[in-house]
Amino acid sequence: MLSEVRFEGVHKIFGAETAVEDLNLTVNAGEFLVLVGPSGCGKTTTLRMLAGLERPSYGRILIGDRLVNNVSPRFRDVAMVFQSYALYPHMNVYDNLAFGMRARGAAGSVVAERVKETADVLGLGHLLKRRPSELSGGQRQRVALGRALIRQPQVFLMDEPLSNLDAGLRVQMRAELSRLHERFRVTTLYVTHDQVEAMTMGDRIAVMNLGRLQQVDAPETLYDNPANIFVAGFIGSPRMNFVPGRLTTTQGKTAIEFLGVKTPISAGSQLTGETTGGEVTVGLRPEDLMWGRVASPDSTLTVSAEVDVVEPMGHEAYVTAVCAGETVTSRFPPRSGVRTRERVELALNPARLHLFDARSGRTILQRPVAGGADVRRTVREARKEEPAEGRSDLQRQTGARGAPSRAEEIS
Ligand SMILES: Nc1ncnc2c1ncn2[C@@H]1O[C@H](COP(=O)(O)OP(=O)(O)OP(=O)(O)O)[C@@H](O)[C@H]1O
Ligand SMILES: [Mg+2]
Repeated sequence: MLSEVRFEGVHKIFGAETAVEDLNLTVNAGEFLVLVGPSGCGKTTTLRMLAGLERPSYGRILIGDRLVNNVSPRFRDVAMVFQSYALYPHMNVYDNLAFGMRARGAAGSVVAERVKETADVLGLGHLLKRRPSELSGGQRQRVALGRALIRQPQVFLMDEPLSNLDAGLRVQMRAELSRLHERFRVTTLYVTHDQVEAMTMGDRIAVMNLGRLQQVDAPETLYDNPANIFVAGFIGSPRMNFVPGRLTTTQGKTAIEFLGVKTPISAGSQLTGETTGGEVTVGLRPEDLMWGRVASPDSTLTVSAEVDVVEPMGHEAYVTAVCAGETVTSRFPPRSGVRTRERVELALNPARLHLFDARSGRTILQRPVAGGADVRRTVREARKEEPAEGRSDLQRQTGARGAPSRAEEIS
């Protein structure tokens, strides 16, 4: 049984501070939705309201068709995994995993079976006798996930669950979580600061800023067609370059002037918004601003720039250069040999420009989705097409769900 989650006009006000403002968001049944945004934008507050640990100041929260505003955490059938996970230090892994089920009075044989299953899925089978203090950080994190998984809730809430792990373990756990989600398809709301997690794990990404939802879309759509400057700057690393520009119309044809060059609006893109006096902000992703010597043939616009900083990353280099008085970052091949104060030619493809109204920051250009999302197959999509062996399992188990879980398990 998969449940969708809906926030309808939800606000959360703490004294003088509005942590979440008019949130309207649906997490589809079985979806993995990633919530991103800068520190303090309201992500944890959103999760806590859904878990029942905070009450919305206004608005409605629904799980499935059920209005849960006044439902206490333990009757919501939601499991939350926090960044700082809590395990019982005096219990071994087995007992940590079994605790919730035992508390609900599950039979010993059922507990044993479920613990084994969960431990297998998480690769904890050989660690069941150890105490948390005898585990690595990543193993502890997996036990914490196991404690949430074993409950087979309708909804998973995860608040930066991988942020305490080292880089290697993060990669491993990222894949693990994606696999678990493909297997059980529990509706998931996942908070992260990590771009890569957001882009690779999310069916969709929701971007928040200052308590307000900015955009919710598939990762590629968000990247190619950000709704505003905030989203454009937040998604993508290195960050999108923003430079001032101006729209001019002669004989019905609109052109953009920026960095001392002028180019018509490219075919296929559509101007959709109003601008204030033609003042626009032009957005250029660093990978679309290439070194002239290696640029693709469709990078027909060239500008001259003076190199300021070269940051070698190994497989590529980020080159910060000054062009027509603006500082821009571009991605260079490794070992290009360019140096500080050298003059280089940067080339860009006019079809890859982003345009925003200079005042409102809203996008005014709808670009075609690059390369056709229909021909590319991401790892995420490929996994989805695999047979979902675990699903019937889960249905069996959710059908047999026992008494509601205890409040302490939420936190
Ligand atoms: N209990 C509270 N009392 C008062 N203000 C709060 C409370 N909880 C959160 N806030 C405020 O609400 C805003 C949103 O906080 P929240 O914890 O949701 O941010 P966040 O997006 O999770 O940030 P981070 O990425 O740093 O975890 C912040 O400005 C925070 O100071
Ligand atoms: Mg938080």
